[in-house]
Amino acid sequence: MSDTYLELANSAVGKKLFAAMGLPEPVVLDREDAAQPHVLSGEVLIGSAEGSRFADQIKHFLQAAEVQVIDSVGGQRGHLIFDASGIASAEQSTELYEFFHQNIKFLKPCGRVIVVGLKASATDTIDHGTVQRGLQGFVKSLAKEIGRNGATANLLLVEKGGEASIEAPVRFMLSAGSAFMNAQQLTAASPVTPVEGDWRRPLMGKMLVVTGAARGIGLAIAEVLSRDGAIVIGVDIPQAEEELTSNMRRLGGLALALDITSDGAETLLRDFCAAQTSSLHGIIHNAGITRDKMLSRMSEQQWNMLMQVNLGSVQRINAALLETDLLDNGGKIIGVASISGIAGNRGQTNYGFSKSAIIGMVETLAEPCAARGITVNGVAPGFIETQMTAAIPFVTRQMGRRLSSLGQGGLPIDVAEVIGFFVSPQAAGINGNLVRVCGQSLLGA
Ligand code: NAI
Repeated sequence: MSDTYLELANSAVGKKLFAAMGLPEPVVLDREDAAQPHVLSGEVLIGSAEGSRFADQIKHFLQAAEVQVIDSVGGQRGHLIFDASGIASAEQSTELYEFFHQNIKFLKPCGRVIVVGLKASATDTIDHGTVQRGLQGFVKSLAKEIGRNGATANLLLVEKGGEASIEAPVRFMLSAGSAFMNAQQLTAASPVTPVEGDWRRPLMGKMLVVTGAARGIGLAIAEVLSRDGAIVIGVDIPQAEEELTSNMRRLGGLALALDITSDGAETLLRDFCAAQTSSLHGIIHNAGITRDKMLSRMSEQQWNMLMQVNLGSVQRINAALLETDLLDNGGKIIGVASISGIAGNRGQTNYGFSKSAIIGMVETLAEPCAARGITVNGVAPGFIETQMTAAIPFVTRQMGRRLSSLGQGGLPIDVAEVIGFFVSPQAAGINGNLVRVCGQSLLGA
């Protein structure tokens, strides 16, 4: 579905017209190429507050990745990283202010701001923990100031022992892959398996399941994972078999036509995977449906059917896979929630319940899985341009797009890239994280 407003705002005539009328002018976001391996580009200015712990490490690994790290701003424009982990008092917060006050003009269109701080558990004193929490409000506010330029601001919080895990999230937040992830925080904890792999094609030869892979976000996930080297087992309903098979063939993956709510689907899926590999790298629970109705008019069937697709089958498939050791030592489980599961949405009590429960799955399953070397993370997409959102009435659709700091809807690839990061072997210290992929939508913020 094309966004005519965005196209017009970026046309030669539209630019002048929109400026004259004082209308918001969202920019076309820089994105990674779904067919090319990862690259990091642009200059990065790194600053740090006194007593901070990670700036040198970040500088070191970015330089090793051939990113141009600069110490002071010249004529050029790029990204900004500030290690604020040392800030322990209200007075010291001035260091954060000074860095961004002086350098925010350095930020390029679609540039990245990354602030690094500490989880409360990793702080030295109550005052230190109190002040570190302030970084969340700072990042969310700054994201609102820079979003109109396509730029984003995100926060990386480091747990005790998490320093071994910061490279993957910093690289991702700096990359074009995080285009629609805005005002979010990731937590880096001690890795559950060794952090290793090829940064350009992190999933080389690894096998992953994507449910609902025939179209929309699921297909974009399959494309991104294939780009990153994976062999994808795409699952979708039998009615979508033709679409699914041709897409999986194009991507060098495997197609499994299966209604995940059917009797015994979880065992069938598990046995299908076990017949292909002794080590499944991950499962992305993407298949989902809406059955919108005001609760007073919603039939029991509309409630139950949705709950089985969005939640019941996810739990059964996890249980079947976790009965075996298929995912042990490096496996990834990904839930696809929704901002409706965070903010709630009129007419979506069933959907809101199911998507909130997927967030619950991430929260409750992450810790027990860590002991087996498995991570569990989730995404909560906001307004994404797919067939699902094309069905929304015109005015509501326009509002959905504009009510975010980036002033536009996301694309399926934006959700897929965040998932690609979560399932990369290098993200072994990212567990129990939920990221909204919504361009900082006002809903539920
Ligand atoms: P879509 O409707 O375009 O694709 C969903 C896919 O899941 C379809 O191919 C469908 O056949 C498959 N599917 C449905 N029931 C199934 C079943 N019982 N067994 C196997 N496959 C089944 O939807 P879209 O937009 O790509 O959404 C993907 C996920 O993202 C869903 O979980 C959705 O709730 C979530 N989401 C989407 C947002 C959006 O703006 N499009 C926003 C927030 C969340």
